[in-house]
Amino acid sequence: MDTKAHWSQVYRTKAADDVSWYQTHPELSLAFIQATQVALNASIIDVGAGASTLVDDLLEAGYTDITLLDIAQEALEVARTRVHAAASRLTWLIGDITTIPLARHRYDVWHDRAVFHFLTDPLQQKGYIDQVLHAIKPGGHIIVATFAPDGPEKCSGLATARYDATALHGVFGSQFSLIDSTQESHHTPWGTEQRFVYCYCRKTVSDASMSIHESA
Ligand SMILES: C[S@@+](CC[C@H](N)C(=O)[O-])C[C@H]1O[C@@H](n2cnc3c(N)ncnc32)[C@H](O)[C@@H]1O
Repeated sequence: MDTKAHWSQVYRTKAADDVSWYQTHPELSLAFIQATQVALNASIIDVGAGASTLVDDLLEAGYTDITLLDIAQEALEVARTRVHAAASRLTWLIGDITTIPLARHRYDVWHDRAVFHFLTDPLQQKGYIDQVLHAIKPGGHIIVATFAPDGPEKCSGLATARYDATALHGVFGSQFSLIDSTQESHHTPWGTEQRFVYCYCRKTVSDASMSIHESA
């Protein structure tokens, strides 16, 4: 399956507010980011941002160093058009999160809603976690939202992995400490319910510890 072609096709054929994951305001994501208590100039990356309105709310809250990453350029174009004049103050990255080169220790906060759960292959999961270890500062904050154990088995025609907070933290491993978690019932634009789990972890490894990238 060509992941990039799949997601590009989704955003070419569906309006941003006509997809199951659409939220008018991603309130829980914003609340978790604010709970980190990072400064407004802290560096935040939204992984698999799609056309999410999180960026609008982060800008409104005063955050100034925001990176939006997605495999589908079409998705980021929707967000870029919507934020209009603010677009030039943001960083836009197009690529696969498991392989795209990211700057070492660049980010204070890593946010992912509904992306990690598409990585059902342990090798892809490892690629993703190595990216977090590489790109997040020691002590950095990681907020990942996936489908909960009673969430959908598929989304956008793709199989998903489902987690509770313990299982999700378990996949990330001992380099991360679990700070908080919660469940959410997301209501799709057509009124069905999807159960999510949100996990907030901190990276505990020191600079001396190495991931694959850091040893290169
Ligand atoms: C279900 S949508 C969620 C979008 C957004 N996070 C939100 O909550 O509205 C999943 C997003 O992840 C992106 N995506 C899927 N696989 C990806 C990957 N391997 N690397 C980067 N982005 C990916 C898709 O293009 C899509 O925008």
